[in-house]
Amino acid sequence: MKTRLKDFLLILLVFAVMAALLVLAYKFRREGWLFWALVVLAAPSLAAFIFGAPFVPASMEAARAMTEAAGLKPGETVYDIGCGDGRVVYLAVRDYGVKGVGVELSPLVYLLARVRGLLWRSGAEIKLGDFRWHDLSGADAVFCYLSGEVLATLEAKLQKELKPGARVISLVYKFPNWKESRTCGCGGLPIRVYIKE
Ligand SMILES: C[S@@+](CC[C@H](N)C(=O)[O-])C[C@H]1O[C@@H](n2cnc3c(N)ncnc32)[C@H](O)[C@@H]1O
Repeated sequence: MKTRLKDFLLILLVFAVMAALLVLAYKFRREGWLFWALVVLAAPSLAAFIFGAPFVPASMEAARAMTEAAGLKPGETVYDIGCGDGRVVYLAVRDYGVKGVGVELSPLVYLLARVRGLLWRSGAEIKLGDFRWHDLSGADAVFCYLSGEVLATLEAKLQKELKPGARVISLVYKFPNWKESRTCGCGGLPIRVYIKE
């Protein structure tokens, strides 16, 4: 099956499960714990969608180009913020010998990342939760494919925590206040490289 078709089916799957969970939550709205369990599973995917960062995976070519653009060295630590199914951080660990950490908000997408991690036998660590809860000061490189308010929040956090010289690689979207160090591209999409001052 063509890779982009597989990615499209993955996106459809996540949206369909999210919609089904919300419908079920409404149906069981008087059931107490069941209602809350369904809301907790569905809400993060919905929030990511509303605030400008729904699950849309980078193409494998773009993921590869992002890892190349980061200039990674073995032993470095990389974070993938909003790691989706983990493809970028898994590639970085496999191809560059770095220590990889992915952070993913949506439990549904987190499960996809764990399945991909098992299939790839990757040593990258995938954490479930909001990136705001995680300390990013140990990162040598940070990957993201986020937009809107989510990207602005990440910029403020990185500005505070990231060490000087660390690289930040953003697929497509510009950080609101930072100046890019350089831009390359893949399949018509810009890959923006920032160096923390
Ligand atoms: C456009 S997708 C990118 C996925 C992956 N990085 C890739 O390039 O294939 C954005 C991802 O960020 C996640 N996300 C959105 N807001 C987040 C947050 N506050 N903390 C952690 N992950 C978040 C979404 O659930 C979604 O999976």
